[in-house]
Amino acid sequence: MKNNIPPLPPITSQWIHRIADNYDLQKELIDTYESPLNIHHLESFKTNLAEYHSILNAYDFKSKIYYARKANKCSTLASVAFENGFGIDTASYTELRQCLDLNINPQDLVVTAAIKNDKLLRLAITNRVLIIIDNKDEADLILKIAEEENCQAQVGFRVSGFEYKDHKLKSRFGFDIDEVGGFIIEFFNSEEVTEYVNFEGFHFHLDGYDPQQRGAALHQTLDLIETLITYDFNPSFVDIGGGILMNYLEKEDFWIEFQKQLKKAVLGKREAITYQNNGLGFNNRNGEIEGGLKTYPYYNDTTKEEFLKNVLEIAYVHRKPVSYRLQELDIELRLEPGRSLLDQVGVTIARVAHRKKDVDGNFLVGLEMNMTQMASSSEDFLLDPIVSYKNRKTEEESVEVYFTGAYCLERDFILKRKISLPKLPEIGDFVIFINTAGYMMHFFETEAHLFKLSQNVFVNNVEDKISLLDFYRDENNLETKHIYL
Ligand SMILES: Cc1ncc(COP(=O)(O)O)c(C=O)c1O
Repeated sequence: MKNNIPPLPPITSQWIHRIADNYDLQKELIDTYESPLNIHHLESFKTNLAEYHSILNAYDFKSKIYYARKANKCSTLASVAFENGFGIDTASYTELRQCLDLNINPQDLVVTAAIKNDKLLRLAITNRVLIIIDNKDEADLILKIAEEENCQAQVGFRVSGFEYKDHKLKSRFGFDIDEVGGFIIEFFNSEEVTEYVNFEGFHFHLDGYDPQQRGAALHQTLDLIETLITYDFNPSFVDIGGGILMNYLEKEDFWIEFQKQLKKAVLGKREAITYQNNGLGFNNRNGEIEGGLKTYPYYNDTTKEEFLKNVLEIAYVHRKPVSYRLQELDIELRLEPGRSLLDQVGVTIARVAHRKKDVDGNFLVGLEMNMTQMASSSEDFLLDPIVSYKNRKTEEESVEVYFTGAYCLERDFILKRKISLPKLPEIGDFVIFINTAGYMMHFFETEAHLFKLSQNVFVNNVEDKISLLDFYRDENNLETKHIYL
């Protein structure tokens, strides 16, 4: 028996609906910029920036927010974040170079790159950009470069290995919390080092999205700061990185139902809802479900405000909440949100190239794009796309399809999920993937087969009479800034 495919309708802003409802505009856009195309809406980004400010302004301790630009490569977003009072978290030489070229104040930049070579460190040191150190080799190289350049390097130390519920939160990044204090005391025990390296604070980025873990890590970092103060150090900030949850889906019911149906499919109790019955983390072990869903938690009802409140109000081993301790110690709390600042900021549009049926009777809809141009770091991107039909008449039957891409890989499926549509798309129709600005559109994109990377355009106000002329390229914006700022 044929069961319905459980839908996952995404939260979709008005500006996206305006574009999605306008086939002619989509056609002009794709004819001009080619498929796929990433569209960004600056007003939505500015709204997110303002929301973060208002959440943190409600607290009495000092705070600073850095936009983690690794989540999206557009330079326009970095400059708009800066213009709106944000710092920028950079993770590579080019990200940093571009920010400096955009005239972003070096004091509002931080380098958190996982690998830092001589070139990146030299650029940061000579521009007095704060560098987050991960290991002793980096500390030694920073000292060497600072001496060569006769410049003082500004540094923070990344910490990991926090104790949480009787075990260590392991990470490949940073110094172990139990060892970093001793390292700092020893490293700065010479005038040569204190002349060339200025220790400003601590940083951590925890995997996952648990506010309790962040609260515990903050307390342990504040304990460390208290110890270092007794050794005459004067750190001024703790940066807790990103990982602040956002919600992609309209309703929790859909999210729960999807997981229920996926488990049923994995157990063979209904037809597959993913390609080759991929469990996206769930496995069938002797008729029982094993494992958990390995995707982003696309539905969650913890707002940014609540998430931060949960972090800041955690009291730890008979102590005061983090918010109180930050104020008492006069420590600035820093955040580096990426994904959550890009909520509702972007969509990716691709043109339908062909339709076919595979041997199992599945419709495969080939899109002019490849799997890296809309790729999740987790098992799948669990949001229903919108199909924009040139011919909207719907006498035809509804269909279930998989979207496939251009790479010569069997696994080039744009989504692993089967998608239910009111009718089969035709060649030249468009598929619009919603809320892709954070990590989805850029993070994994590659140029295999010499396909060009997709273009990135911006639009400001999306009024009824929107036209092609309202869209402009990210690169143009960079050139303009470069010349005029
Ligand atoms: C150091 C650092 N800061 C900030 C972020 C951004 O996190 P998110 O996009 O989840 O907010 C990341 C993400 O990996 C990170 O590694």
